[in-house]
Amino acid sequence: MTQHGQQKTFMNSEQEILTKKLKDIESRSDIETVLTSFYKKAFDDKLIGRFFTEVVPLDLVTHLPVITDFWESIILNKQVYRKNVMQIHQHIHQISAIEKEHLDRWVQIFTTTIDEHFAGNKATLMKQRAQSIATLMNIKLNHDLINNK
Ligand code: HEM
Repeated sequence: MTQHGQQKTFMNSEQEILTKKLKDIESRSDIETVLTSFYKKAFDDKLIGRFFTEVVPLDLVTHLPVITDFWESIILNKQVYRKNVMQIHQHIHQISAIEKEHLDRWVQIFTTTIDEHFAGNKATLMKQRAQSIATLMNIKLNHDLINNK
């Protein structure tokens, strides 16, 4: 085997170990795992941390079950979240502007967190939904000329 071939085999087997270790998101408890890990990073983040610690201090003990409801509704098809998430962020935006760069960072941290813990269809769906909701949020908050300006 050539040097190049050995390296390829090594990388392939590493990838195999990686995909074998990670399971897909299957339960409410899996969603909680993602969110607990995500908010730990988000709170500490230089760019967006202050939103959760200063702008609208987020009490995770009361909020984590609500945010888990939100994701359970989307990922596991359980209709447990019925609030208007856009309106809630509109309120935060009025106190301190949520710009596109903040939403991009939010999505980046969220995606990295999912990739660290899970892999599969639901994990992919969660990442896609996070991205599309963040995109919609940016349009609503920063480009809705009729309602904002
Ligand atoms: C830079 C971007 C974002 C910031 C700074 C932010 C910040 C916050 C804060 C401070 C709260 C607590 C609100 C409160 O206590 O009333 C909150 C709640 C929440 N956020 Fe975000 N958020 C961001 C993006 C997103 C995105 C993209 C999603 C969804 C994909 C999301 C989903 C939620 C949900 C479900 C809640 C709970 C709302 C409820 O109480 O019903 N957030 N967010």
